[in-house]
Amino acid sequence: MTDWNFNSIPDQSGRVAVVTGANTGIGFETAKVLAIKGADVVLACRNPDKAAEAARRIKALSPKGSVKVQPLDLSDLDSVAAFSDQVLRDLTRLDLLINNAGVMIPPFGRTQQGFELQFGTNHLGHFALTGRLLPLLLASPGARIVVVSSAVANSARIAFDNLNWEGRTYRPWEAYGQSKLANLIFAMELQQRLTGADAKLQVTAAHPGWTATDLQRSSWIIRALNPLLAMNASDGALPTLRAATDPDASGGSYWGPSGFQELRGRPVPARIPKRAIDRDVAARLWDVSELLTGVRFAIPSPGV
Ligand SMILES: NC(=O)c1ccc[n+]([C@@H]2O[C@H](COP(=O)([O-])OP(=O)(O)OC[C@H]3O[C@@H](n4cnc5c(N)ncnc54)[C@H](OP(=O)(O)O)[C@@H]3O)[C@@H](O)[C@H]2O)c1
Repeated sequence: MTDWNFNSIPDQSGRVAVVTGANTGIGFETAKVLAIKGADVVLACRNPDKAAEAARRIKALSPKGSVKVQPLDLSDLDSVAAFSDQVLRDLTRLDLLINNAGVMIPPFGRTQQGFELQFGTNHLGHFALTGRLLPLLLASPGARIVVVSSAVANSARIAFDNLNWEGRTYRPWEAYGQSKLANLIFAMELQQRLTGADAKLQVTAAHPGWTATDLQRSSWIIRALNPLLAMNASDGALPTLRAATDPDASGGSYWGPSGFQELRGRPVPARIPKRAIDRDVAARLWDVSELLTGVRFAIPSPGV
C-alpha cells in the first residue's frame, strides 16, 4: 500500500510499547499515536521534565492506552541496565521496542563509559538495551523490535580500526553515519540470528527521510532548509509506525518515505544498502558491541 497513514494502523489495545527518546520529535509522535491506538506506552527518556511534559500532552488527548515515564540515558550503560531491570520487574509482556532516540553531529563528546557520543548513544546504548530486554520480547507472542536508522547509512562505513576516534580529527557526519549504519546492520543481523533460532520475534527498521525536529540543533544550515524540504514530525513518524504495526511488515523489512531520495512521502519499503547486509561486517560489529557493552544476547538454539 502506498498511501499508508494514521488510519492504516490497527488497534493496539493490550499491547505494551517502549519508545526511546519519546519526549520530542519522531519518538513523541510515535508514542502518541501508539497510545491513541490503544497501546500502553513507556516513554524512555533522559530528561525527566521533558518526559513528564510529553506524557502530560499525550494524556491530554485522552488516549485509549496508558502512558508512563521511565528514565533512560542511552549514553550511560548503567542507566540502560537500571532501566531494563525495572522493565523486567514491572512488565509481564513487551510487544514493541522502538529504538528511536538519537543524537546527530553534536560537538565531540564521550559517553559515561568513554565511547564516542554518537556511536555510544545511537548504537551501543540501543544494542545493550535490546539485549537486556530480549528475554521479555522473546516471551511476548507477536513482539517486534523497530530500529530507527537514517538514509545517511547508505554512504557510511564502520571504521573498525578506530571506532572511538582516538588520536584522529573528529568528523561529526562520518561519526553519525557510522552510528546509523550500525543501527541498520544490527537490525538486519538480529533478524537473521532470530530466524536461525526459529524465534518468532521480528526486527524491522525505518528511517524518517528528512523531518524537521530538534535533531538538527547542531546544524543551522539544515534548520534553515527545514521549511523548504522537511516533513513534519507526525509524517516523519509514519515509517516507524508502519515498521511497528503493519501486519504485512515482515522481519528484516526496512521502511522509509516514498519520494525523491527517500526524503519525504508516505512510508514504503526503503532501499537496504548492501553494506547493511554484509554478514562478515555484521558479525564483527556484533562481537565488538558485545565486548564494549558487556551485554550478550541470549538467543535460544533452534528447537529449544
Ligand atoms: N529528523 C530527521 O530528519 C532524521 C533523519 C534520519 C534519521 N533520524 C533519526 O530519527 C530518530 C529520532 O530523531 P528526531 O529527528 O525525532 O530527533 P529529536 O527530536 O532530537 O529526538 C531525539 C530524541 O532522542 C533523545 N535522546 C538523545 N540522546 C539520548 C540519550 N543519551 N538517552 C536517551 N534519549 C536520548 C532526545 O532527548 P532530549 O530531548 O533530551 O535531547 C530526544 O527525545 C533518531 O534516531 C535520528 O537519528 C531523524
